[in-house]
Amino acid sequence: MTDASPFPLNVWYMAAWSEEIGETMLARRLFDTPVVLYRTGDGGVAALTDRCPHRFAPLSMGERDGDQIRCPYHGLTFNRAGECVRNPFSDRIPRAAVVKSWRVAERDGIVWLWNGDGDDCDEAAIPDFSMLDRGVPPLTGYMPMAANYEFGTDNLLDLSHIEFVHKGSFAGNGVIFAGEHSVVEEGDTLRSNWWMPDVDAPGHTRGVYPPDMKTDHWLDMRWNAPATMQLEIGATPAGGARQDGCIVQQAHILTPETATTTHYFWASSRPTPVADEEIDKMVRGLLEQAFIAEDKPIIEAAYKNLDGADFWDQPPLSLGVDAGGLRARRKIAALLSAQQQ
Ligand code: FES
Ligand SMILES: [Fe+2]
Repeated sequence: MTDASPFPLNVWYMAAWSEEIGETMLARRLFDTPVVLYRTGDGGVAALTDRCPHRFAPLSMGERDGDQIRCPYHGLTFNRAGECVRNPFSDRIPRAAVVKSWRVAERDGIVWLWNGDGDDCDEAAIPDFSMLDRGVPPLTGYMPMAANYEFGTDNLLDLSHIEFVHKGSFAGNGVIFAGEHSVVEEGDTLRSNWWMPDVDAPGHTRGVYPPDMKTDHWLDMRWNAPATMQLEIGATPAGGARQDGCIVQQAHILTPETATTTHYFWASSRPTPVADEEIDKMVRGLLEQAFIAEDKPIIEAAYKNLDGADFWDQPPLSLGVDAGGLRARRKIAALLSAQQQ
């Protein structure tokens, strides 16, 4: 990774859900770098660049020997620190026989990977997702997206699209038009929030509030670089306290796979205090309808429609409601420009 990286350096990127990492090696391209992830004997997670320095075979095609990986091509063996520990052709291990070992942290069921200098890494900078777990772990999902990750951020930080894109799932019968939108910057964190007072109970309260009850409804989105977002969907009887309301927590975490493709990880807190197969199936169906059948096609089509041209060169028309996405793009541009200097 050089200073000319098109992706922000020295930030945490989501690499996988914890449950994806086991004995079997997981090969995943992250910020245009092949990475192999696997669970080590002590229950931790190892992440190595998935390219042998000899003739560039993916180590993920090789075999595990405890916490070590044997290259599938000519048998060099690497430990979890990325050091070559065995050369089948000589007792001598060439000094260049090393692969990068990525700094990993596992928190809230998420495996994070530090894309930067090992010494500068600060685990306290990992965005908090503990709110997803309410005694039962959240429902999680993944979808690949054929679009640059910032086009996914545009979508998530501008929820006005709900009324148009999500007619088959979350559309709110115009409540978003009755709402106030604000974008607030707090250090490295951006917040893009909707507040819709005195509206009919929104869909996520079904079974909790009668549909014609008046509620105060909010959609609060938190963003951190590169594209790590947390959405709180809430409603409370009109005039009531937020903490007494009906709240769903979601994660929308986008990790660039390449400059033109994205890993989209999503999660939702479970609606019931114990996992219920029927309800889970219903919620998962709704979320997949919203994210896979509704968001993904429009994000991919808009990105494709630009034919590789630069977003700012068009220039994009602004409607005000899109201020969150623009602010996130400016923050990313500032990070990239700082690292190029
Ligand atoms: S490519 Fe790995 S040992 Fe030759
Ligand atoms: Fe959406």
